Parts: sequence; C-alpha cells; structure tokens
Amino acid sequence: MYMNKILYFFSQLPSRIYWKIKNTILRWRGCDFADFRDPSFGFEIGYTYRPSSVIEFRRIMRKVDREFLPFEQMSFFDAGFGKGATLIEAMKIGIPVVGGVELSETMFEICQKNLKILGRERESTKLYRGNAATMTEQLDDFNLFYFANPFPESVMKQYIQNIIDSAKRKPRKLIMVYYHATLHHVLEAAGLRLLYSYQVKVLFRPEAISLNKIYCLPDEMNNSTVKN
Ligand SMILES: C[S@@+](CC[C@H](N)C(=O)[O-])C[C@H]1O[C@@H](n2cnc3c(N)ncnc32)[C@H](O)[C@@H]1O
Repeated sequence: MYMNKILYFFSQLPSRIYWKIKNTILRWRGCDFADFRDPSFGFEIGYTYRPSSVIEFRRIMRKVDREFLPFEQMSFFDAGFGKGATLIEAMKIGIPVVGGVELSETMFEICQKNLKILGRERESTKLYRGNAATMTEQLDDFNLFYFANPFPESVMKQYIQNIIDSAKRKPRKLIMVYYHATLHHVLEAAGLRLLYSYQVKVLFRPEAISLNKIYCLPDEMNNSTVKN
C-alpha cells in the first residue's frame, strides 16, 4: 500500500516537473489553465474544471482521425470548455473548426483571454456562454462532440437528446468522444452506437481506472447519406 504510493509519486515526477515548468511559462505570459471550481453553480448542474490529459486527448482523437472522421473534416464542439486548454489542443492537432459551451462566466472570460494571448483567436471559433442542456440549433454547425465528464446525469440526458435532435434537423455523420466516461449508460440508453472503448490505467494506482469511449449515431437515427 505505502510502497505503491511511493512508487506512484516517483513515476509521476517527470511529467509533474514538465507540467510545472510549462504552466509557469504560460502564467508568465498571462494565461491561466489551473483547476477551478466556480461557486456560482452547484454539482447538480456541473462539475469542476480540470483540463483533459493532453496525452489521452491526442490518443483518442488520433483514433477518431484514422478510423471514423478525419481531422480536416471535423468541426469540434467541447461541452464545458472551461479555460480552453482542450480547444487549443484541438486547434493544434489540425481541426479546422472548434467551438463549445461553458456554464461559468469567469472561465468563459479566462478562456477568451487565453486564446488571445496564445494567438488562437479565429473567426470560425464559436464559443457560447450557458448551460449545455440549452444548446439546440448551435449544435448544427458541428460533427464531433467532445465531453470530459462535465456535468451530471440530468444535464447529460438533455444534451444527448439535443445532439440527436440536431441530427434530425441537419442529417450528417456525427461522432461523440466521451473522455472519462462515468455516464456511458446514458449514451447507450439514448441509442448511440459504441465504436471504441479503452481503459486508462494509472501505474501503481489500480483504483484510478478511467474509461474513454467513442460513439456514433446509428444509421437509423440519422438520415445522412454519409453512413456512420
Ligand atoms: C471536467 S471540466 C472539462 C474541461 C474541458 N472540456 C477539457 O477537456 O479540458 C468540466 C467543465 O464543464 C463546465 N460545465 C459544467 N457544467 C456545465 C453545463 N451544464 N453546461 C456547460 N458547461 C458546464 C465546467 O464549468 C467545467 O469547466
């Protein structure tokens, strides 16, 4: 038990030092990507901001690019983009159109500042401030829906229904990437088809398993001539 804790601490040291240095440089430049809990809303509406792991984000997005939807055809929507770390990663890997929704006003503003400082402001980027459960026509411009465990079941159910309704309004190929998929039963109950799933295991912390999943809309839920 204690041995595992010690081994875990040392195994994490190189990446901790790397991120410490990187975040310090970003802070010097005026950016802020620190974890944040906005006190203006409760856990019954949304969870705390913590950026996705860059390594895992790139790993799952490369899988999507190779097998389901190439980066150059993607329009990427992050539900709960927080301070924008993952939006920026999506731009870096070559996705031409990115957007998202964020509930927290504070983080919405920090995200805009981060994008400006890092020279990542674009005409095509559509950022909305509000509850993901209220997004309707705004979703029609996107075909890759990313969520990193942002909100609880009631919000997730409504948001998934909004994506399904968007496909009815505007038939197209749709992919959903669910990072740290704690509510995958909601997506499966809504009728989404699982394309790929893998476990992220943390060395020396067997209890810290996270599931990442890729889904699509089955053809019968999508009138698109481009089959999923
Ligand atoms: C775990 S963080 C994910 C951050 C980001 N997507 C990433 O991958 O780096 C969850 C984010 O979702 C936001 N959020 C929580 N509930 C929300 C809701 N109902 N609608 C929109 N955003 C929400 C939180 O404020 C927080 O920034």
